[in-house]
Amino acid sequence: MKIAVYPGSFDPITLGHLNIIKRASRLFDKVIVCVAVNSSKRPRFSMEERTDFVRRVIGKYGNVEAASFDGLLVDFAKSQGANFIVKGLRAVSDFEMEFQIALLNKKLAPEIETVFLTADEKYTYLSSTIAREMAMYNADISKVVPREIARDVLDKLSK
Ligand code: PNS
Repeated sequence: MKIAVYPGSFDPITLGHLNIIKRASRLFDKVIVCVAVNSSKRPRFSMEERTDFVRRVIGKYGNVEAASFDGLLVDFAKSQGANFIVKGLRAVSDFEMEFQIALLNKKLAPEIETVFLTADEKYTYLSSTIAREMAMYNADISKVVPREIARDVLDKLSK
């Protein structure tokens, strides 16, 4: 069984993330979207809020689950019996950091492969940072985050 973990801060989950989830769900038997801790970021939404957002938007994918984890990603992957880590790549600027992380994870757990999916060109500009910025100024964020969570994102962030 091919099990993949799709990790990220998801602060909040965007349509770009959801596009990667949709495509990963066709490639793997099971995909676990894992809200993880990025020690260099200070998220606006709590771990619980971000995980709840993920849970609310993956409903139509029968083989996708939401989880959260504060620890090493490879330990989480092993605990789930996952043999793949999925990451999305938007631009060359993502590559250097993602390449380093993939090499590190490979050192820690050689049996787990990192698979990169290129972002759909519709979403190459999109990030959680942009979604938060739009929400702060009360912009129409249904173009950048799933509609199921748009209201809650606006309620928390708009000035
Ligand atoms: O969406 P992000 O912030 O780019 O996701 C980065 C994340 C959370 C996937 C990464 O920081 C991570 O894997 N954190 C878990 C801790 C870990 O395993 N660190 C070693 C690899 S950086």
